[in-house]
Parts: sequence; C-alpha cells; structure tokens
Amino acid sequence: MKNILITGGAGFIGSHVVRLFVKKYPDYRIVNLDKLTYAGNLENLKDIENEPNYTFVKADICDFEKILEIFRKYQIDGVIHLAAESHVDRSIKDPFTFAQTNVMGTLSLLQAAKVCWEGDWTDKRFYHISTDEVYGALELTNPEGIESPFTTKASSALHHLAFGKEYFLETTKYNPHSPYSASKASSDHFVRAFHDTYGMPTIVTNCSNNYGPYQFPEKLIPLFINNIRHGKPLPVYGKGENVRDWLFVVDHARAIDLIFHKGKIAETYNIGGFNEWKNIDLIKVIIKTVDKLLGNPEGTSDHLITYVTDRAGHDLRYAIDSTKLKNELGWEPSLQFEEGIEITVRWYLDNQQWMDNITSGEYEKYYAEMYKDR
Ligand code: NAD
Ligand code: DAU
Repeated sequence: MKNILITGGAGFIGSHVVRLFVKKYPDYRIVNLDKLTYAGNLENLKDIENEPNYTFVKADICDFEKILEIFRKYQIDGVIHLAAESHVDRSIKDPFTFAQTNVMGTLSLLQAAKVCWEGDWTDKRFYHISTDEVYGALELTNPEGIESPFTTKASSALHHLAFGKEYFLETTKYNPHSPYSASKASSDHFVRAFHDTYGMPTIVTNCSNNYGPYQFPEKLIPLFINNIRHGKPLPVYGKGENVRDWLFVVDHARAIDLIFHKGKIAETYNIGGFNEWKNIDLIKVIIKTVDKLLGNPEGTSDHLITYVTDRAGHDLRYAIDSTKLKNELGWEPSLQFEEGIEITVRWYLDNQQWMDNITSGEYEKYYAEMYKDR
C-alpha cells in the first residue's frame, strides 16, 4: 500500500497519525483530507507540511463526488478514517451535525472506496477509528478504587486503580447514550456492513480517552491547563466522580500504525490506557503539575475547582480491556501516566501562542455559550 488517505489529519489524533506516517514511511504518499472545521488546525502539522510525501486536501467527507475525485486522483489504496465531530457536549446541543458528519460522511467514504476498489480488494484497507463510548457506560462499583487487574510497562507506581469489575471487550454489546456515541456506533455498523455485504477489507478500533499535545481546548485536559494558567474557574461536571481511561495520544498513533499494517481484516481491536482516573483525582494531578511547572507553591490553584451542573446523560465509567491487542499484536502503552501528563502540561505551557490563536475570537463565544447555564 502506497497511497494512504488519512481523514481528519488536521485534528488532534489525526495530526499525530499523519506525523508518524509521514516520518516513518517516506515511500508512502500521505494524503491528509480535512474540512478544517473549528477543530481542524494546520498549525498542528507545521513541522511536516513541506515533506515530499505529504499532501493536504481541504474537503468535506460528506461531499461524495469530491471524495471520489480524490480517490481517483491519488489512486488511494488505504484509508485511515479519523474525521468526525468529536465533542460530546456539542453533540448534545447540535445532534444533526454529528449524524451528518459521522454517519453520512463515513458512508460517503465507504462508497467511494467501494466504487474504486470493488473487483480487486487486494492490498486495500479501510481502517475506521472509533471510540469506547459506543459500548455505553460501566458501573462504578468501587468508588474508592481497587487494585487494577492489568499490569503493563506503563502501569504507574503511584496510581493503578480500577473502579469496577467490568471492562469493555470487543464483544461488548453496543449501547451508546449520547448523540456523539450514537453517531459513532452507527458509523461502525456501516463499516462492518461494507465488509459483510461487499467484502471490503475493513478494520475498526475503539479507543479510550486520549490526551497529549494539540488537543482542542474544549476537552477536559487542555481546557483545565489553560484555565489554571489564566486563573479561571475549572468547571467540574457533577461530583467529578465519572471515570475515564486515559491514553497518551502518541501511543494511540503507534497502535493505529501497527493495526493498519498487521491487524486482521474484519476484526475489531480495543485500544486503552489500562489507566482509569476519577475526574476529580485527575483534575488534582493537573492542578498540581501546572502549579509546579509555573513555579507556584503547591495548592495555589486548588480554589479554582468549581462544581457545575452535570452533563446530560453523563456516562459514569469507561474502562477498556485491550488484552486482545496486547496478545495478538504485542501493543501496550509505552508511557507512564505521570510522565505523559507532565509532557502534556509542559507542551501547553510552552506553546501558548498555539493556544492563544485558538482561544481568541470565535472560541470565546462558544465557551461563554457552553457554560452559561452551568
Ligand atoms: P478532533 O475534533 O480533534 O478532530 C477532528 C478532525 O476532523 C478535525 O480536523 C476536523 O476539521 C475534521 N473534520 C470534521 N468534520 C469533517 C468533515 N465533514 N470532513 C472532513 N474533515 C472533517 O477529533 P479527535 O479527538 O482527534 O478524534 C479523531 C477521531 O478519533 C474521531 O473519529 C473520534 O471519534 C475518535 N476518537 C477520539 C478519542 C479522543 O479521546 N479524542 C478517543 C477515541 C476515538
Ligand atoms: O472515550 C473516548 C472519548 O473521549 C472520545 O470518543 C471523545 O471524542 C472525546 O472527546 C472523549 O470524550 P469525553 O466526553 O470523555 O471527554 P471530555 O474531555 O469532554 O470529558 C472528560 C471527562 O471530564 C468527562 O467525564 C466530562 C468531564 N468534564 C469535561 C469538561 C470539558 C468536566 O467535568 N468538565 C469539563 O469542562
């Protein structure tokens, strides 16, 4: 496979995947297709934009004719599909955009791939990036945390807890709750249907919460780092007891590379950090790390924690079991969480211009609107 179409490459995870592929595979042509919505930012790819094996195309995945033209022009033989509307809170306010982009956009890419590849699927691959949110929510049976059953290189000495006995497996029944996760679930079904009906070589992966550089500051970690720096309140939804399983974004990109090249056709792989955190505990780690790196005495920013109205339908706990990926392809997270968080906080503090370019203008209006009732 030589001509790889990566959709959503100007976004958070997509930019890390594009960077990895452009650097690691000089013989591939990497075509980054992105509509550049509010979440797409070509600044994320400044360091590789002039590489000879990299091409950027501004297009909407929902524009079927345009997608077909791009497939033909670049003789695409592999797709890594990340383009999506990705923020749960936005999906609660505007579900239509989520159905349009995440469902119809995915269908338009699948159909273009089918038109161009059908008859000879050899060496073709359609890899769809999805989320653990499609599985719904797990119970939080151990609010104080119990010893996690998973041990990995990245398991932290400081924090290695699980907040319930159940985990999401590849076989867990879909049970999405938010308009975002419902749209992702629907897109996953379409991808699998194109394998089962037409024989398209597809793969789906479902990953847990990513963190790291270049994440849009509407998401918990970059939002809170930026607010602490500006002495602004940190809006904790509900009691802060919801649990997420955090994975460093570069480790997700490594998994995507491995699965794209070595994963089995028609399979699903779960990708996770083996790293559960209750929001409030994670927030305390972020505050401590930001204060430390800013040279503030410990505790300086604790008063910024502000409990606000909970997110509607807020899923209580996500926790991924990615043993299949570990056993079959040998992947596991490479970074300890404390290390990953420190790298992340340092990156946002060192790249204030990147943050300020985003948080000026339109973002201000969005932020005011999003938090006006909380
Ligand atoms: P993001 O919001 O940062 O980036 C999405 C990108 O898609 C942006 O560059 C945007 O411009 C582009 N895009 C949106 N609509 C488009 C359209 N119609 N046509 C072309 N491009 C369009 O998202 P992210 O956090 O990087 O997530 C990427 C993918 O990974 C998504 O599919 C998401 O569901 C999935 N995912 C994310 C996480 C996470 O923690 N962020 C975890 C698991 C899975
Ligand atoms: O699980 C994978 C998913 O992780 C991805 O599919 C999504 O694209 C991605 O956005 C992320 O979804 P979450 O809703 O878990 O991420 P978010 O950063 O929005 O919120 C993380 C947790 O923090 C969640 O329990 C809600 C809470 N939160 C979030 C924000 C933005 C707050 O308490 N306050 C906030 O201001």
